[in-house]
Amino acid sequence: MTLRAVVKGVGHYLPERVVPNSEFEDSLDTNDAWIRSRSGIQRRHFAAKDETTSTMASAAARAALTDASLAPADIDAIIVATSTADLTFPSVATMVQADLGMETGFAFDVQAVCAGFIYALSNANAMILSGQAKRVLVIGAETFSRIMDWSDRSTCVLFGDGAGALILEAQPGKGTPQDRGILSTDLNSDGRHKDLLYVDGGVSTGTTGYLRMQGNQVFRHAVEKLASTAQKAMERAGVSPQDVDWIVPHQANIRIIQGTAKKLGLSMDNVVVTVQDHGNTSAASIPLALSVGRERGQIKEGDLLVTEAIGGGLAWGAVVLRW
Ligand code: COA
Repeated sequence: MTLRAVVKGVGHYLPERVVPNSEFEDSLDTNDAWIRSRSGIQRRHFAAKDETTSTMASAAARAALTDASLAPADIDAIIVATSTADLTFPSVATMVQADLGMETGFAFDVQAVCAGFIYALSNANAMILSGQAKRVLVIGAETFSRIMDWSDRSTCVLFGDGAGALILEAQPGKGTPQDRGILSTDLNSDGRHKDLLYVDGGVSTGTTGYLRMQGNQVFRHAVEKLASTAQKAMERAGVSPQDVDWIVPHQANIRIIQGTAKKLGLSMDNVVVTVQDHGNTSAASIPLALSVGRERGQIKEGDLLVTEAIGGGLAWGAVVLRW
């Protein structure tokens, strides 16, 4: 018998305020046509003053628990992927734990920027396979609007806020690619590229800081690294691109999403795309896309999914799972 980490439920939360590209035209030398054509983004959600990464994470967690017909007490562990924690510490995950009224189990954050949800899924999978937890709540939640330099048109138009959550449960499988659940993971990082995308604040500066990015340099790495990690994960899972029902990519830029699909030999009909509505929500983008893809009726039980992401570090990776 092989243990598998199987999806039990999914949910998401998006702040009420929707900001169309046109809103940036008053304050910046930019326009809707440039943003759409260079990134595919049309609008994004921004958190209200009283909303934080942890409040959005909790809302997404509640939606996933409802979807799974589970109570907080049924969960053994919470992992939150985020780079925009409410405070330096404690973790957002422990804030969610308290908010859900959980008095048992354990909770911690994972920080791998836009690849964070892939890293969190991989951690959750390892904990389930090693018997440390039976049910893990995996959340991606971000408030990137709080780390934007609003005078930098090359970054502030690209990001958004939101949260998505997935519940994984240990279930027996046969050890074949037909099993439901996570079939393989692949993680990578290369710290030599740490200056391509970073936030210029933290405990060393005593400020929160602002996101700084050499967008065209990040772009150059993205398609090649995303296609290669997806390929490695598929090989490890014993599946090939023809078997894939859905790519659920990190939603940073439609041109990166299209380039990666092309490199994998897959049509855009097999890709869940939400970047037009959410912008880049960093670690929240994949669970948001999973939840929205499920709501739209795209993702169905038994479908084979490949998720992949790259972000600051650089850190990148992929997870193959059967829904
Ligand atoms: N509106 C209008 N012009 C803009 C602009 C904006 N919002 N932002 C940048 N520009 C300008 C630049 O100043 C530059 O002008 P110049 O040639 O006069 O210097 C020009 O557009 C081209 O800039 P460049 O950065 O080369 O554009 P690009 O085609 O690479 O697109 C990004 C920019 C950021 C959309 C693109 O590089 C990208 O998406 N990169 C990956 C980013 C990413 O995904 N990061 C997160 C990974 S998790």
